Amino acid sequence: MGPKAIDVGRHPNIELLTYSEVEAVSGYVGNFSVKIRKKARYVDPEVCNSCNECAKVCPVVKPDEYQMGLGSRKAIYIPYPQAVPCSYILNMDDCLGTTPIACGKCADVCEQECIDYDDRDEIIERDVGAVIVAIGLDVYDPTELDDYGYTRFENVITSMEFERLICAGGPTAGHFIRPTDRERPKRIGFVQCVGSRNAAIGRPYCSNICCMNTIKDTLLLADHYPDLTNTVFYQDIRAFGKSFEDMFQRSKEAGTRYIRGLPGDIEEDPLTRNLLVTVENTTTGKLERHEFDMLVLSVGVIPPKDLAKISGLLTLSKTSDGFFLESHPKLKPIDAPTRGVYFAGFCESPKDIKDSVCQAGAAASRSGALLNAGQITVEAITSYIIEDACTKCGACASVCPYGAIIWEKGQFPVVVEAACAGCGCCGATCKSNAIVMRHFTDEQLIAQIRAILADKPEDKVFVFACNWCSYAGGDMAGISRIHYPSTNRVVRTMCSARVSEDMVLEAFRCGAPIVLVSGCHYADCHYINANRQTVKRVQRLWNKLDRLGIRPERLQLEWISAAEGQKFAKVMVQVEELRKKVTKEEIEQTIKALQEKPKKQRKAKSAKQTEASVSTP
Ligand code: FES
Repeated sequence: MGPKAIDVGRHPNIELLTYSEVEAVSGYVGNFSVKIRKKARYVDPEVCNSCNECAKVCPVVKPDEYQMGLGSRKAIYIPYPQAVPCSYILNMDDCLGTTPIACGKCADVCEQECIDYDDRDEIIERDVGAVIVAIGLDVYDPTELDDYGYTRFENVITSMEFERLICAGGPTAGHFIRPTDRERPKRIGFVQCVGSRNAAIGRPYCSNICCMNTIKDTLLLADHYPDLTNTVFYQDIRAFGKSFEDMFQRSKEAGTRYIRGLPGDIEEDPLTRNLLVTVENTTTGKLERHEFDMLVLSVGVIPPKDLAKISGLLTLSKTSDGFFLESHPKLKPIDAPTRGVYFAGFCESPKDIKDSVCQAGAAASRSGALLNAGQITVEAITSYIIEDACTKCGACASVCPYGAIIWEKGQFPVVVEAACAGCGCCGATCKSNAIVMRHFTDEQLIAQIRAILADKPEDKVFVFACNWCSYAGGDMAGISRIHYPSTNRVVRTMCSARVSEDMVLEAFRCGAPIVLVSGCHYADCHYINANRQTVKRVQRLWNKLDRLGIRPERLQLEWISAAEGQKFAKVMVQVEELRKKVTKEEIEQTIKALQEKPKKQRKAKSAKQTEASVSTP
């Protein structure tokens, strides 16, 4: 928070709720209801004049989180200098106790009488039309990376601690000193990519900001302390933004040494407490040894710890990196898959201040456009219930990733069309065929299967491909002119979760030697986590095929992303190899095994659906 937060706090159309947490969110686009816990501050912010008398008498001393533990605070404190509102809060976990009052000194000296030990959390509710998620980031904790000696040597610090040490509002009032002797260091080493681009610790992504942050720090040090030498150990410098390359060049001109290679070993001289760094310089191919007074670990960023909670509240999904998944990486980078929810800043992916500000502006514009329109246009691909066929089992509601189906025991489920995104998971799950997906009805898909396999099915590999990833992967293979066997026949569904057991079995009934179900990578489904149902369904089918004496490997499941044209082609080669091993006799036996009762059942249900779809919009 800073000057902008003050503007926000003063804006007549903005209600700023600080020190508060979202507890629950219900509803859908244009019609959300949010339950918020306003935490007890024990100090009335309207009355507190920040005189600091309470903190002066408070006997509790704790490490100051804002100063990265390099300074201290009291149990009653202002969390950080630019806090809005700029008033004290009492941390009850640190306080000596209020029931009964064990200390009470802060209240004794408060002339404003704004301290209230009986203050309690308050639950409030707000109705909102759109939600912008801007929950920020956490910083990587390098204690697990023992190689760099962060836990062993006091003069190894993180870039966040470095920021506090050179800040005028920091614990040393901006005097740059090293922790062990409080002398000003003369030789500083920076180690890049600590906790970033490291698959071994589960952080394979680039944190985006660390290179430029270090370059900024070297320029700052060169400006303030011309006698100081800076050395940066890096894998490659990513200075791709506007004027970034210029800053990088200025840093080099200011005397900063850039050595390509990350330290392999760090030791401490027990007498001087200096740090001895061994590194392979990958430019010269030589092993080098450097001595520093202080080493700064340029730590990466990680998804905020509250991300899982918010993800559950708003039915959002995550990428494999752990950040929120956007609706479409190129066309809808601000929108969450849940309609009416938008992202701003780090929670969607690592980005710098400029990109965060751009995304925040875009999120505000997107939500403004949504609210001003006064009505929402929904995609035509939504589901509806055929009450005549429905058994009121509620299975559809339990699998809907958007919570778009409202169901109560003994009642017919109701689809909230504004919230339905059209994945089709409900339709594929319903055993009674009581759900129709507009434009992707069972009848339409079954008709496609039959038409494709009507002639020489034994020569074809039957493929179900989801619209967003694997179908687009096929497109990518095509436009990249990658060669692959021409035996595949693809049916597109919006999500792999739309493919029902009956559709797969119908393909086998029609003589398909191999059926491939393909979709987005497991964490990348464009309908939050609908493809988890795909996995469950395919596993059930493998068991079923096995029971029926049909080789389960004739049903394949693959995840292919839109960018993976090569993978699409590779998978097509593999399934073609499998197809060649399926004999005509095997196909005939499969048809026989599947033909009897299930087909009759499906026919009956299909008739019910046709009847209903004629009369339902
Ligand atoms: Fe591709 Fe769900 S959208 S698997």
